[in-house]
Amino acid sequence: MLKAPVKSLSLLLLIISSTAWADLDPASPTVFITGANRGIGLEFVKQYAALGWNVIATTRKPEKAEQLQALVTTHEKIVIEQLDVTDFARIDELAAKYTEQTIDVLLSNAGITPKYKSAFRRVSGVNWDIARNSMAVNAIAPLKLAQAFMAAVAASEQKKMIIISSKGGSFGLSPKMPIMYSYRASKAALNMYMYTLSFETPKKGITLILLSPGQVDTMEDSDQFKGIKIPNMIETNESVEKMLKVIDGLTPEDNGKFLTYEDGSVLPW
Ligand SMILES: NC(=O)c1ccc[n+]([C@@H]2O[C@H](COP(=O)([O-])OP(=O)(O)OC[C@H]3O[C@@H](n4cnc5c(N)ncnc54)[C@H](OP(=O)(O)O)[C@@H]3O)[C@@H](O)[C@H]2O)c1
Repeated sequence: MLKAPVKSLSLLLLIISSTAWADLDPASPTVFITGANRGIGLEFVKQYAALGWNVIATTRKPEKAEQLQALVTTHEKIVIEQLDVTDFARIDELAAKYTEQTIDVLLSNAGITPKYKSAFRRVSGVNWDIARNSMAVNAIAPLKLAQAFMAAVAASEQKKMIIISSKGGSFGLSPKMPIMYSYRASKAALNMYMYTLSFETPKKGITLILLSPGQVDTMEDSDQFKGIKIPNMIETNESVEKMLKVIDGLTPEDNGKFLTYEDGSVLPW
């Protein structure tokens, strides 16, 4: 039996040795996913890998991403990369690393979602660290990611940027009540950043969309939401299956739109 530090070191060496980017298959399309260790991001990894894509799965802590590591052992075209999306130097480093490996689909998925209790806090209860962090992770980081990977996506065959947003960021759809201040504001800011960027992407041949994944049950056992019946909540595999169909069917005319996972129809801002 290996002692804990030795065991994690060997796991790390296994990851590094078995997932060199040079092993990615040049004949297959490539997707780059943020927040790929759990929830919707992890399901995207599973479904794209099952379709035979090259998957660059990024996570803040590869050494703790046990489910991702397990996938690598059965899918040779998955590469795990360390990425905290607020670390812009690291984003630039990865973009430079993957200039030759073009990215067909850039999937900006990492996000901070409120837990049950904090979701219902009034303005007196806003946590300012979470407010700043939500803006950094949910809104600013996806714009930096899109900027850094513009060339790698433009050089690919499919040329798609998919930004996971939320109905919570929509003035038309968000419930008319004082909830989820930081989350809703950060997703609304994300929508406007991407709407603005969508006036630049056609010049590069890129189709950029915002995508709502629906109300998805990604609660972990520790979450206060776990076990609470929320109307219309769907399983992660259903949401991702439908999003894959929407992504697959995109045309350049969809550039700049905010779409629903269900059938790719347009959502109001
Ligand atoms: N679930 C829903 O009902 C729902 C509805 C609308 C929109 N969305 C959006 O869909 C996306 C995925 O949601 P989810 O439900 O799968 O969330 P989740 O289960 O909470 O997972 C969030 C993911 O984002 C990662 N992340 C957080 N901060 C990060 C950072 N600074 N750098 C890199 N990664 C970071 C997390 O990594 P760690 O494990 O390291 O924390 C995790 O992998 C989010 O953008 C969310 O806002 C979800």
